[in-house]
Amino acid sequence: MTNILVTGGTGFLGSNLVKRLVKEKNNVTVFDNNFRGSIQNIENNKNLKLINGDIRILNQVKNSLKNIDVIFHLAFINGTKYFYENPSLVMDVGIKGMLNLLDAVKDSSVKKIILASSSEVYQTPKQIPTDENIECIIPDIKNPRFSYGGSKIINELLLMHNENAKLIDKIIFRPHNVYGPNMGWEHVIPEIIKKIFFATNYLKNKSGSIEIQGSGNETRSFCYIEDAIDSLLLLNSQGKNNEIYNIGNDNEISIRELINYIQEYLSVEVSIITNNLSKGSTKRRNPNLKKIKNLGFKNKINIEDGLKKTIDWYIKNIKYD
Ligand SMILES: NC(=O)c1ccc[n+]([C@@H]2O[C@H](COP(=O)([O-])OP(=O)(O)OC[C@H]3O[C@@H](n4cnc5c(N)ncnc54)[C@H](O)[C@@H]3O)[C@@H](O)[C@H]2O)c1
Repeated sequence: MTNILVTGGTGFLGSNLVKRLVKEKNNVTVFDNNFRGSIQNIENNKNLKLINGDIRILNQVKNSLKNIDVIFHLAFINGTKYFYENPSLVMDVGIKGMLNLLDAVKDSSVKKIILASSSEVYQTPKQIPTDENIECIIPDIKNPRFSYGGSKIINELLLMHNENAKLIDKIIFRPHNVYGPNMGWEHVIPEIIKKIFFATNYLKNKSGSIEIQGSGNETRSFCYIEDAIDSLLLLNSQGKNNEIYNIGNDNEISIRELINYIQEYLSVEVSIITNNLSKGSTKRRNPNLKKIKNLGFKNKINIEDGLKKTIDWYIKNIKYD
């Protein structure tokens, strides 16, 4: 049995990862302060231990590492709204968290760290599809959005070059727009579902109009949560030391196409009012997944099926505020 610590384990990726790790008979410790995640996302299990802790507090991190073999480090402030509204918190959690973890692994039983980075490190990449060798950039120090991408770049550097991490295996993954039920509300898919719901008077009308950021021709490559978790488990078993892997889906779609899928499923038709893109938001995102596919990864869930499950969850859980 492997003893695995998941920081950020009550969050979206974390809670889904924890479910799978427990199912596969690992001993799992979750470390989270529930800033965004919730213990309700985690099912009780005898092989699961919950620690309500803050990654910025060194002693709490040290105490969580007893007998741990593998760490998935996911704790971070995620959600675009926070990057603009609270950049100093994003950096505090991001950078102190990583430094604490690396300090704490010294003299511990930890053999491997698997770190969550992000596609945001590429910002506006020179090449699409984007592979892991494309440079990481921070285009504008003054733009608060880059508190997130900047902290992820620093995390990658800290993990690769920290003295205390020398003797352990290090794997970095860069997720590209993972989505699914209960992913939080501060992401494009839940935002669009919510807008369509309210624009059509709770789906009672067959038409309405919604405002979006940008022209709608911007693209993303959305990856359903189960495929993302498959990738993480694969990286744990097959990922190579000191390597970086994109994770996601290489099917690129525009925001307009995304809206079409959602309105078709909900049997409504909305007109789109375009706006300026928020500063620093990239126009296209599409990962080159060759590296993880070489380990045996295959996407199993297509966008229609993934969206259906996601839309059903959001319509059921929408808040009338
Ligand atoms: N979801 C995606 O598409 C995506 C894309 C790129 C990168 N990532 C990265 O993957 C990881 C997981 O993302 P997610 O979508 O599950 O986000 P999430 O916000 O749902 O999960 C992050 C978790 O970290 C916890 N956390 C925040 N501050 C903390 C602190 N001080 N101490 C302890 N825990 C703290 C939150 O409570 C939350 O449960 C993050 O590192 C994120 O940056 C996710």
